[in-house]
Amino acid sequence: MEKLKTPGLLLDIERVRRNAERMSEIALRNGVRLRPHVKTHKCVEIAKIQTAGHSGAITVSTLAEARAFAKNGFNDITYAVPIERGKFDQATEIVQSGVKLNLLTDDAETVKALNEAAGKAGVRFDVFLKVDCGTHRVGVEPQTAEAIEIPRLISDSKNLHFAGILTHAGHSYDVRTKEDILAVARHERDVMVGLADRLRSQSIEVPTVSVGSTPTMSLIDDLNGVDEIRPGNYIFCDNFQATLGSCSFEDTALTVLTAVIHKDATRRRLVVDAGAIALSKDRGPVGLDPSCGYGRVLDLEGNETGMRVTSLSQEHGEIEAGNADIFERLRVGDRLRILANHSCLTAAQFSHYNVLENGSIVNKWEIFSGW
Ligand SMILES: Cc1ncc(COP(=O)(O)O)c(C=O)c1O
Repeated sequence: MEKLKTPGLLLDIERVRRNAERMSEIALRNGVRLRPHVKTHKCVEIAKIQTAGHSGAITVSTLAEARAFAKNGFNDITYAVPIERGKFDQATEIVQSGVKLNLLTDDAETVKALNEAAGKAGVRFDVFLKVDCGTHRVGVEPQTAEAIEIPRLISDSKNLHFAGILTHAGHSYDVRTKEDILAVARHERDVMVGLADRLRSQSIEVPTVSVGSTPTMSLIDDLNGVDEIRPGNYIFCDNFQATLGSCSFEDTALTVLTAVIHKDATRRRLVVDAGAIALSKDRGPVGLDPSCGYGRVLDLEGNETGMRVTSLSQEHGEIEAGNADIFERLRVGDRLRILANHSCLTAAQFSHYNVLENGSIVNKWEIFSGW
C-alpha cells in the first residue's frame, strides 16, 4: 500500500463477495430476478461477481457503461435513465451490436419519436414505463391516466415492445429509521403491483415489474408481485448506507487511500490529498449525523480514528483532528484511508480499483467512466 499512488481506491474484495452473496440470497429467497445497477462500480470484474448464479442481466446509468459492458459479454442491459431523442442513435448502435437494451420513458412524445427512429433503423426497442413511487425525480404518477396511456401507446407501437414498469425508491435515503425504510420498501412494491394490476385489467400485458434501491431491497420482507430488483450501492455500501442502517460499517468495501500533505500541530489540523474530486461533495447522512463531514478517516488497517473530513476544496481534504490519539503520531507523507459518504460518486472519479485481499494488493481493475 505504501507504493500506490494517492489518492487511489482500495477495494476490499472479501467484503464485495460477502455483499454480493447477501443480495443474491435476498433475490433467490424472494423468487425475483437480480439485475444489479453497475453504475456503483462501472467495473466488469465486479459485475461478474454480482451476477454469478443469476442471468447476467445488469442495469446501467450511461450509454458508455452499456457499450463497455456489452463489449465484455453482458447482453441484457437496462439503461435506467429516461431516454431522449439525442441518444436514439447511440441506443440503436448498441441494439445492432446484438444486445437486448431496455430503455425507459415517462413521455408519450418520446415513445412516438422512438418508434419512428426504430422503424427507420430496422431495430426493435424494449421500453419500460418509468413510475414515480414517491421520489418525485422522474416517472409518471401511478394513479394518473398517462400511467395507462403510455404503456398502451408503447404496446401499440410497431417497433417497440412494452417491457413493463420500473421504479426506484430514491426517497428511501431521506428517512431516519429502519422501520421507515421498510415502510418505503412496502410502498414501492404496493404502488407497482397495484399499477401492474390496473394495466392487466385493461388487457395490457406487463412482462416485468422492476423495483429496487439498496435500502429498500436490504430490508424488504415480501416481494410478492415483483419480478426483478435493481439495487446497486449494496456491493460497496458507504458511510451514508451504514449510518442509515441498511448495512453495517463492517460491510463497507471501498475506501480512498490518501496521503497527509500538511500538519498543523497548533490547530490540530491535517490536510490530505483527497479533495472534492476524489471524495465528491455528497453530504450523505448529514441529516442523521450532522458531524459526518465528507467521510470517516480510517487508519491503514481500516480502523476508525475518530476523525472526519471536515471540509473539501478541489484536491485538498481538511481534517480537524479534535482529540484523536493518532494525530500525534501522524507525519506529512503518512497514509490514511477515507470511507466516503457516497461510494458511487467516489468511484466514478477514478480510473481503477486497487483490489485488496488479506491485506495485500492482488489486482487492478478498470473503471469505465464517461458518457
Ligand atoms: C433507476 C435506478 N435504479 C436502481 C438504482 C440503484 O439504487 P441504489 O444505489 O440505492 O442501490 C438507482 C440509483 O440511483 C437508480 O437510479
